[in-house]
Amino acid sequence: MASNQEVNNARFNQEAARWDSDRKHAEGVNKAFDAIKRYVPAFSDGTSKNLDALEIGCGTGLLSFQLSPHLRSIVGVDTSDGMIDAFNAKTASLPDPAKANLAAVNVLVQSADDVHLQAAAAALALRRGDSGKDVPYRFDLVVSHLTLHHIPELGELLATLKDCLRPGGMLALTDYEDFGPEAIEFHAETKRPGVERHGIKKSEIEDIIDGVGFNEVVVERAFELRKEVEAKDDGSKREMDFPFLICLGKK
Ligand SMILES: C[S@@+](CC[C@H](N)C(=O)[O-])C[C@H]1O[C@@H](n2cnc3c(N)ncnc32)[C@H](O)[C@@H]1O
Repeated sequence: MASNQEVNNARFNQEAARWDSDRKHAEGVNKAFDAIKRYVPAFSDGTSKNLDALEIGCGTGLLSFQLSPHLRSIVGVDTSDGMIDAFNAKTASLPDPAKANLAAVNVLVQSADDVHLQAAAAALALRRGDSGKDVPYRFDLVVSHLTLHHIPELGELLATLKDCLRPGGMLALTDYEDFGPEAIEFHAETKRPGVERHGIKKSEIEDIIDGVGFNEVVVERAFELRKEVEAKDDGSKREMDFPFLICLGKK
């Protein structure tokens, strides 16, 4: 039987080419971007251009491309070839791709010293003339949107992300909340295979982030996304509001 990871990769490879044309994908990312700017102090105190960021589950780069003008650099990682190809095509179409401060790599990050992750960070450091100054490469900010619900072992991921951060670095992860049985409606039935959990439980993720040793842990509702869900038995269309959590912690 295919693993959830394999099911997800197949689904996201197939969806990648049309991902950015779904206005709900763009709307969710815009709201995540606004939340990150509200909650991460560097975006209001004028220091965000000093930050090197990592995005887990970057997909086609909707969030990385919004964040990159405000950061020193951002590396996106994803486990779907199709998503990474779409990200890379967007980077290649920038006016000066060789100077871009963002890069994407297909890797399941299980170690902060992962060679693919290190190579991507090193390539960006080389572009800005900082090569080899700060090895192994670590990050000041880790972001992620709509990816936590695909991760089998959140504790393992959070521990790895802590290793990926520099001292004082921050986590700012957004995903929809498991607010009860209705949260399952976020995905149409055809998209449910491969989904590890139908949203993130606030107290569970708080305990996990706290348990791996982050400081200043805050998990709260940051925004809502209204989207169409599967029709009822009578075929009538309906929409639901899904609350999104932002999960914050400091190393
Ligand atoms: C719902 S999509 C969100 C993509 C993007 N963040 C966005 O909002 O447009 C989830 C993404 O997470 C990726 N993914 C799933 N499990 C992953 C893992 N363990 N590590 C990295 N990426 C993963 C998928 O390939 C997919 O691109």
